[in-house]
Order: sequence, then structure tokens, then C-alpha cells
Amino acid sequence: MPAVKVPRREAEPVKRKLKKLGLYDGKRRPKREDGHVLLPVFDNPEIHRLGYEVLNVELPFRPERQIYKNLEGVLAERLSEEELKHLRRYDVIGDIAVIQIPPELEHRVDDIVWGLRKVHPFIRVVAKKGFHEGAFRIRDYSIIWGERRLETIHKENGVEIKVDLSRAFFNPRMKGERYRLAQLVRDGERILIPFAGVLPYALVIARYKKVKITAVELNEEAYKLGLENLELNRKRLKGEIEFIHGDVFEVLPELPTYDRVISPTPRGVDALALTLSKTGRWLHYYDFVHETEIRNFRGRILEECRRQGKECGVRIKKVSDFKPHVFKVCADVRIKG
Ligand SMILES: C[S@@+](CC[C@H](N)C(=O)[O-])C[C@H]1O[C@@H](n2cnc3c(N)ncnc32)[C@H](O)[C@@H]1O
Repeated sequence: MPAVKVPRREAEPVKRKLKKLGLYDGKRRPKREDGHVLLPVFDNPEIHRLGYEVLNVELPFRPERQIYKNLEGVLAERLSEEELKHLRRYDVIGDIAVIQIPPELEHRVDDIVWGLRKVHPFIRVVAKKGFHEGAFRIRDYSIIWGERRLETIHKENGVEIKVDLSRAFFNPRMKGERYRLAQLVRDGERILIPFAGVLPYALVIARYKKVKITAVELNEEAYKLGLENLELNRKRLKGEIEFIHGDVFEVLPELPTYDRVISPTPRGVDALALTLSKTGRWLHYYDFVHETEIRNFRGRILEECRRQGKECGVRIKKVSDFKPHVFKVCADVRIKG
């Protein structure tokens, strides 16, 4: 995706000019780099006629929350202020919009569908989002408008991900996290990804880095979709991905250690000791933690490091809010020495 590279002090006026010309891509974030700023622009030949340096870089998309604001704006003409307060965040996955409809808005479903279609004219399905269920973390969805399917191809971070929301877990909100990890990884690394799902982390990292990834997933449906995703993206990937169908707790003990382990751990599962034992340098361990427990969570990781005779540095990053006062967090654990 193209970006214009300008010295930092010129960034604001150039951004204004690009916006005026309709060339600035506001859905992506600018990035600072060595006294310069990379400004996201649309793939338009006009860009090259402006005399700026144009690079081809991946700049991450802005969070969904801002897209959500658009829906609120559109629905303001049909819903009361009181009703708008109940509007929940939603996601667009490929050509499927998924939204939670609280009881207060059940009678407004048609208006919400109308609003979603207005903001995203390309959507073909609108589904109502229920809760994650079972070990495979599959959500309960009901289709409220459009084609009767929950299968689609979602584009993210330069890869195409085939998902079927009725058969396997997928969370589009982790796009920024996947991009972050892909930036941390260095060419040549050997990476292990347990709880790999339909392979979103593996694909994004292998898209940008020449690495060897081993991924493990137990849900056979997710595994099959993951294999399809490998085919779908084969020509785009710099790295290699080996995909194992099996239970992390049975497969990992048989595997060697890796430079980096990325564990998108399902909620309620404790795989800390196992995943830590499989890394020689880095562990990125995801978990759901109450804000008052973050210190204890860090302590628990340091304790496990000591138990395994590893000297570790631990940084906890809040990734998203899960429910009031509870966050999805990622512990970036660095093994020293
Ligand atoms: C939170 S989801 C993450 C999936 C994927 N990494 C993603 O981000 O889309 C957890 C995944 O772990 C899988 N899973 C749960 N228990 C497992 C186990 N014991 N062994 C392997 N996979 C497991 C689920 O089927 C699910 O796909």
C-alpha cells in the first residue's frame, strides 16, 4: 500500500493537501520514521505526480471504534439519543457485518441493518453476535439480513483469510496485534504458534518475514480452513508454515524449542508453563486479566520463569478491553542471556 514520505515538520501541511486532493487514506495510520512521517495514501497514479517520495509499505488500519462512530452518525437520523447509547461496537469480516444487538434495540434491527449497509455498501450478510462457546471458542451467530452464510474471505495486513464463523474462531480486532508481532519478528527466526485457529498470526508474520513457523490447532474445521488459507496465500508468503492438527498439550511436549512462541491462549486455559518451556528467546502470551490483577499476572510469569531456571524480562501490554475492568493482555516475555 503506498505512503508518501515527508520530513516531520512538513507532515501536517502535506497531509492537509493530500486530504484536499482526496488522496489521503484516513483508514490507515501514519507512521514516524527517522525524522520523517509516512502518510498513507490511496493507490492512485496522481500521487506520483506531486513530487513526493512514494514508498510501498504496510501501515496499520485505525481501530474499529472510529468506523463504529460512522454508524452512530448515520443512525442518528432514525434512532433516539437514548437508543444510540445502547448501540454496540461491530465488526466487518470480509463481506459480513457482525453486531451485538442488546435487548433495548431488538425493535430497531431493521434500522441497524439499514445503517450498516449504508456505511458498508459491499456487505452481503449481517449477523447478530452471541457469545463464544466451548473449547474451540466458536461464537453463536444468527443471520439477520442477507445471504444465509457465515463463510467469507477477510483481507488483513496483506493476506487473505478464509473464515467460517460457524465453524472456527476468528477475531478481526487483533489485526493491529498481528501487525505488531510481524514487526518484532526477524528474518531467520523459528516460531511456534499454539492455538493457531485458521492461521491469521502465522500468515501475517510469514507474509512479511522469512521465518519457519510451526502452528498447532485442535479444531478440525479450523485446521481445514487454515490449510485452505495456506494455499490461498502461497504466492504472497516469504516464510514457511508447518501446520499440525492436534492438542497443544499433547503435541508441544514432543516439539523442540523455538526462538519465539506466540500463544493466543483461549480464555480459561492455562498454557503458561508449557509455552514458556518451548521458547529460547521470546514468548508472547495472551490472557484475560482484571485490571487489579495485572501485577499478580506479571508476578506469576516471573515465578514460572524462576521455576524453569530462566531469567526473564516481562512487559504486559493491554491489547483490548474485554468487559468492564477486564482486559485482553499480551505478556511479552524476553528470556535473557
Ligand atoms: C482464542 S482462539 C485463537 C485462534 C487464532 N489464533 C486466532 O487468533 O484467530 C483459540 C484457538 O485454540 C484452539 N484450541 C483450543 N484448545 C486447544 C488445544 N488444546 N489444542 C490446540 N488448539 C486448541 C481453538 O479451537 C481456537 O481456534
